[in-house]
Amino acid sequence: MSEVRKRGPFGSRRAAGAAIGAALLGGGLIAVPAAVGADSEPPVKVPDAEVYEPSALPDRIILVPTETPATTQKVTWRSETGGEYAQAQILKAPIALGDVRPADGAVRTVMAGSTNPVNTTLGYASVYHQVEFTGLEPDTRYTYRVGDGVNWSEWTDFTTATAGFEPFSFIYYGDMQNYIDSAGPRVFRQAFADRPEAKVIVNAGDLVNTANSELEWGQWHAADGFINSQINNISITGNHEYSGGQLSTFWQPTFPYPANGPDFGDAATNAALRNTIYSVDYQGVRFIGLNSNVQSLAPIMAAQTAWLEQQLANNPNKWTVVTFHHPVYSVASGRNNPTVRAQWGPLFEEYGVDLVLQGHDHTYGRGSTAASRRSVTVHDSTVYVTSVSGGKMYDAVDTNWTENGADQMSVGQDMQLYQLIDVTEDSISYEARYANGEHHDGVVVRKNDAGERTVQEIRTPENTVGEQVAVDVQNVDFRGTVNVSAWGYDPGETVNVYVRNVERGQDVLVGEATADELGRLLELPVRFPSSAKKLSTQVVYLESVNQQITSPEITVNR
Ligand SMILES: [Fe+2]
Ligand SMILES: [Fe+2]
Repeated sequence: MSEVRKRGPFGSRRAAGAAIGAALLGGGLIAVPAAVGADSEPPVKVPDAEVYEPSALPDRIILVPTETPATTQKVTWRSETGGEYAQAQILKAPIALGDVRPADGAVRTVMAGSTNPVNTTLGYASVYHQVEFTGLEPDTRYTYRVGDGVNWSEWTDFTTATAGFEPFSFIYYGDMQNYIDSAGPRVFRQAFADRPEAKVIVNAGDLVNTANSELEWGQWHAADGFINSQINNISITGNHEYSGGQLSTFWQPTFPYPANGPDFGDAATNAALRNTIYSVDYQGVRFIGLNSNVQSLAPIMAAQTAWLEQQLANNPNKWTVVTFHHPVYSVASGRNNPTVRAQWGPLFEEYGVDLVLQGHDHTYGRGSTAASRRSVTVHDSTVYVTSVSGGKMYDAVDTNWTENGADQMSVGQDMQLYQLIDVTEDSISYEARYANGEHHDGVVVRKNDAGERTVQEIRTPENTVGEQVAVDVQNVDFRGTVNVSAWGYDPGETVNVYVRNVERGQDVLVGEATADELGRLLELPVRFPSSAKKLSTQVVYLESVNQQITSPEITVNR
């Protein structure tokens, strides 16, 4: 300790502090301790190895779905050692624990199926454990803990999936990757606050920035905290989960996803890509996780694409969500993934994939193909989203969309986002919110039993007026009929149908219609009234609670 450095121009800091303390006391104010810390060293950063070092106590506990989430559940966790003792206990969620002992035989103990030592970049070793709970009952709340028989985690609850379709919510994140321990946690916490009952969390890659960084994986697990221990996690790999072409050593021990991915025909490739390509059917939604990092490896990409088509062709679920890292339509300037777009894009459209959830661009973009556009506010095919949850930001552009036949319906940059997705029997409601919980973007996907779909923008005063009614002809005989179509209604919405004389501004009510289950009026015959004189110019005007829209001009024939 240097005496010289401690002394300023007014004598020692201790002396000056004591004088101020005395003055405050003399004035009858609240006393403060004199010269707090006057002799202490400047703050020193706590060493990372101290913060993230494992102990015998389990941490980094995360639920990983199986192929049968109604009756089985995987959980992984970390500790310093203790492989042979690693175990989990589970029971049906009791109304109390503590003084209240579970009934005899209620608690089942499962020894860890495998343990994986991971050498870390912070100079210590750690071991990842995994257990699969089997023989569970569907739609049932369980309580579990993990440990070594002496050192246990807290008891934590999860609910198994229902056996068939049942509405549920899930959360989707783009890249966390940077500022994981500073800017990241508030996003995860706000999403959980908004959907505490979510059954699944989707991460579209680049969870961390440095594939094998013990520090960053420690930060990532800490950021999501207990949330990961009670909600199933569906994560796929971004480019930052790879280092020198090698998958992060943390990936497979943390995320033992179902082994239902492609067979690449050789053991080494299968082992390298294990747990990075898989599908999970959860309560009526098929989640398909893909690995877009191999897009330039032609044979591997081809095998993955063939597997994807099988997953889409043999899909008993009404809804399909696909997630991978490199977007079909890039949002960040200068980026382009032509192989992903060429090989996967047509399959998503052909097989009616509902949501494609992506990352990589550190911006926000959402839209659909231009060919699927039906009106100002409605498309009728796949929704493509790129988002970002972490603090690293790029600039957003729409050129890769427009140059490749897609409509970018929402865009944003310099925003940390989370996405809330609510699945029901008839619709998927999708909403992106900022880190502060405010709304950014949203869309409603509806699908009927025939597989027809509408993807409807949120209504605004601007997009619910104007020329949006489609017509089959623009010339009609006196007292003739025009077939009109319109989109963007609520299912079952009542619509008043008028024929409007453009020159005179007069409306004649000619009927009432009801929007179908997808919010459409399709090929509605509108018979023109006698007031629509020969050689006059008319429009069809559709008025409802939610929209006031017109057709193009129609001329009545001589
Ligand atoms: Fe990224
Ligand atoms: Fe990336």
